[in-house]
Amino acid sequence: MKNTFSLLLALLCPLFGKAQPIPVYLDDTQPIEARVQDALARMTLEEKVRLCTAQSKFSSHGVPRLGIPEIWMSDGPHGVREEISWDSWNAAGFTNDSCTAFPALTCLAATWNPEMAALYGKSVGEEARYRRKDILLGPGCNIYRTPLNGRNFEYLGEDPYLASTLIVPYVRELQKNGVAACVKHFALNNQEKWRGHIDVEVSDRALYEIYLPAFKAAVQKGGAWSVMGSYNRVRGEHACHNNLLLNRILKGEWTFDGCVVTDWGGAHDTREAVFNGLDIEMGTYTDGLSKSRDFAYDNYHLAKKYLQGLQDGTYPLATVEDKAARVLRLIFRTAMNRRRPWGAFTSQAHYDAARRIGEEGIVLLKNETPRRSRAALLPIDTTVYRHILVVGDNAVRRLTEGGGSSELKVQHEISPLQGLTKRYGDKITYTQGYAAGRPRYGKTEEPTIDTDSLRRAALELAREADLVIFIGGLNKNYQQDCEAGDRIQYNLPFGQDELIPALAEVNPRMVLVLLSGNAVEMKWVKKIPAIVQGWYLGSEAGHALSAVLSGEVCPSGKLPFSFPVQLADNGAHAFDALCYPGDSIHEVYKEDIFVGYRWHDTQNIPALFPFGHGLSYTTFDYGKATLSAETMQEGDTLTLTVPVKNSGAAAGKEVVQLYIGDVESSLPRPTKELKAFRKIDLKAGETRDVTFDITADDLRYFDDARHGWVAEPGKFVLYVGSSSTDIRARKTIILK
Ligand code: BGC
Repeated sequence: MKNTFSLLLALLCPLFGKAQPIPVYLDDTQPIEARVQDALARMTLEEKVRLCTAQSKFSSHGVPRLGIPEIWMSDGPHGVREEISWDSWNAAGFTNDSCTAFPALTCLAATWNPEMAALYGKSVGEEARYRRKDILLGPGCNIYRTPLNGRNFEYLGEDPYLASTLIVPYVRELQKNGVAACVKHFALNNQEKWRGHIDVEVSDRALYEIYLPAFKAAVQKGGAWSVMGSYNRVRGEHACHNNLLLNRILKGEWTFDGCVVTDWGGAHDTREAVFNGLDIEMGTYTDGLSKSRDFAYDNYHLAKKYLQGLQDGTYPLATVEDKAARVLRLIFRTAMNRRRPWGAFTSQAHYDAARRIGEEGIVLLKNETPRRSRAALLPIDTTVYRHILVVGDNAVRRLTEGGGSSELKVQHEISPLQGLTKRYGDKITYTQGYAAGRPRYGKTEEPTIDTDSLRRAALELAREADLVIFIGGLNKNYQQDCEAGDRIQYNLPFGQDELIPALAEVNPRMVLVLLSGNAVEMKWVKKIPAIVQGWYLGSEAGHALSAVLSGEVCPSGKLPFSFPVQLADNGAHAFDALCYPGDSIHEVYKEDIFVGYRWHDTQNIPALFPFGHGLSYTTFDYGKATLSAETMQEGDTLTLTVPVKNSGAAAGKEVVQLYIGDVESSLPRPTKELKAFRKIDLKAGETRDVTFDITADDLRYFDDARHGWVAEPGKFVLYVGSSSTDIRARKTIILK
């Protein structure tokens, strides 16, 4: 009826000299739901089903007959990946796809600055938009459970509050470009080992308190338009079609109206894919054409088999109506959004953003005065240190390469050595010291170089130098910070554990810069006076690093995860192999809610460098904390105020952290949990009052039995600190 009317109108309009009205689905002044319903009404069953599968490695179908475009996707999350071939993982060979690489997400987490997260989302979103992407595959927010996870560098650390606070502005600003975030990997993809099948068992409490909050924030506060399922199983079902995660929690409790996209090749069962919340199936194992017919796109779970099942009544039509509606919604928000801006690519503004985020995320772990010296080594005083030796493979390695799907082809990448040389010119000498092979997906490659002579040369040069800057850590090779495998050792690879103390022995004036996305063991820690955690910093790595080492920028990053002294000090490693990495089939998260500092605190196991730790070139004094009231009840808001003074000689930023601990509770709780933080910028001598509002929501735990959040009356301690262990003020409140 409606169609006949439209047809009549279309025929008659020209006679009266009127323009033909545009169909509702094409009219972006109409509400999105009306457009979705209108488009659905015009589509055949086949067309609806086609919306649910890939058509190439990084695109899914549109509806060509109706002019509804396909969806183009790209990794994510640190920049826009190079173009990949239609049907293979090979590079497509474009010459216009060399991007800006932003620092890895662990570095963003270490800024503890939502403004940096917004800048990140905006900038990477503009790059994605310019490259005509509709979905950027990221950001990732799986919780840092073990330092062995090969993909921790792509995530936002060990604390759900920190990760939630940072993911929201990233998602919002990214999506202002008309490019969807695809928040990944939902959920419990906390390791790469056996990632395709390991079946994770975790309590509801740990799920809700630790592993879900960042996803929930991304969806509810950030308004994410898509979510990527993860490869692993959760309680028996693959996460990409998982009734609990996708139907009950994501689409049920959180009322998510966007699309669930599989991880590539993450769908395994048609029935589950139909019923358990999956919307778009992307794949890994197909050339889509003639080869590997078993995996050709038509044979995807949500393709031919799904269509047949809909036609013969095996699957209800409502399932495809829902999926297609979600995909259309996504298309209207992105590819068919006429108002979206044009984006920008490799602009100076993007390089500046990458540099600023890097500078704010670099963490000064340690800065002591070495023997026979007068002052701490950092910032570098070139009147004292005239001859600086830089040692280490990471000083020159391209760290945007490797790592798996987050690998980037960059327009430029300033290495640490280039950054330091630009600043200090011929004061700098470089020697490699140790060697590592090239990054190869799923394989380790041994270096072809004689490592013994590298080591000897470094020791010889170190003896002569005024200052040694060692730049090492992990890299993006398989079994380092890389997808598809976990690390196989907690200590440093490539002989660095022998080289580092040997260098310090011949020259105690040594600064160690660790480039990694993970904590590492540091048996030699006492011998090294200055240690900097420098992450993976992207295109502007060398500029950001040298700005901090030289003192042009005062370091203000704080660790987004704990550095255990030894692996066994981490909760996931304190039990048997079933707890990590699992028995190859199952894995049980026995440490439960006690992840990261929650474990260290509660078990009284000091970390080498605790969560929230990070030094500065200036000092901050915390004054006496005051409370607006000492008792509260549901519905009240208490205000806690702490004056913080920059008591040193340099301007600097401090992250003031508020943790709350429940003194007595019916369920075990961590000693304290991060509930708020503020990053403040203070000139030398300046004082500022930092205030935190506290409500009963900050006091709750998740009660499995009641399936809800509970705040039990009683006493709570508020801890204000410069890290999770450096507590500068304490207050007690009573919840009535
Ligand atoms: C990764 C995802 C990535 C996808 C596409 C998968 O192997 O797990 O994070 O977005 O590939 O490259």
